[in-house]
Amino acid sequence: MEQARILIVDDNKVNIELLRAQLKPFNYKIETALDGEEALANVGKNPPDLVLLDLMMPKISGYEVCRAIKQNKLTQFIPVIVITALQELDDKLKAIELGADDFLVKPFNKLELITRIKSLLRMKALHDDLDTSESILFSLAEALEAKDIYTRGHSDRVAKLSVAIAREMDFSQEDIDIIYKGGLLHDIGKIGVREDILLKPGRLTDEEMAHVKSHAIRGYDICKPLKSIADALPCIRCHHERYDGAGYPDGLKGEKIPLNGQILAIADTFDAMTTDRPYRKALANETAIKIFEDEINSGQWNPNIVKVFLKIVKKSS
Ligand SMILES: [Fe+2]
Ligand SMILES: [Fe+2]
Repeated sequence: MEQARILIVDDNKVNIELLRAQLKPFNYKIETALDGEEALANVGKNPPDLVLLDLMMPKISGYEVCRAIKQNKLTQFIPVIVITALQELDDKLKAIELGADDFLVKPFNKLELITRIKSLLRMKALHDDLDTSESILFSLAEALEAKDIYTRGHSDRVAKLSVAIAREMDFSQEDIDIIYKGGLLHDIGKIGVREDILLKPGRLTDEEMAHVKSHAIRGYDICKPLKSIADALPCIRCHHERYDGAGYPDGLKGEKIPLNGQILAIADTFDAMTTDRPYRKALANETAIKIFEDEINSGQWNPNIVKVFLKIVKKSS
């Protein structure tokens, strides 16, 4: 691991120097800020690996700094250790609410200080690694589609349409993020499907069809080891399930199908209908919409979600 960068934030210079002296033997790169404003500027410019944060400071308090770090997607995984005096129990509770990762009570024990810093830095490094694996996977999904003119941009459009449906259904931002990731990765399992079959212009044999269908489970297996996308796994696996139970890979029926999967199935079918495929030309948006209207109760999809979907696509076409 590269030399870790630690930001010490305290309006009292003596406290800063004390911490600096205690951390000296461990060869961290130490940066300092004397108030909240300076701290946030530092974090914004070059995010550190860990923040040691005093609570009571002029201008912007430690609480605000903690809140700002934890609410920003780019910095939320930077560990924050709040430094507090023993009697400040309420402050401690408030800092927990704002997402602080740990506390040190003044005057603190050197061993405790180092142990906590080391353990949080280890978690941060692990998280950075996961993050990298996640971004590799997204690039892979994009590269897979770019090879094939028929599916170029498919996952991106499916992800965006699924998000629009989820938003209309009042999903929380967290759940919207999950369905977005799932949308981007839903067909990643096609990496394991033979290209000559994927691009075959004619009808597929039963055997070939079974091979194509295996992409749902393959995608699930590829993404399973990544903790950061664990929440999106159900939509990757279930995007070809049918509401009447006749879909694959598990033949789940009705509400047994995760809601994300039910949404994705609609967005996926619509995008497939409205783009060229090796075996047929794209349908016009209006034609595809008409099919959804006619087939709303066919058993393929959840009719209530189809209604939401129709409202959205009619608005935009
Ligand atoms: Fe698929
Ligand atoms: Fe798809």
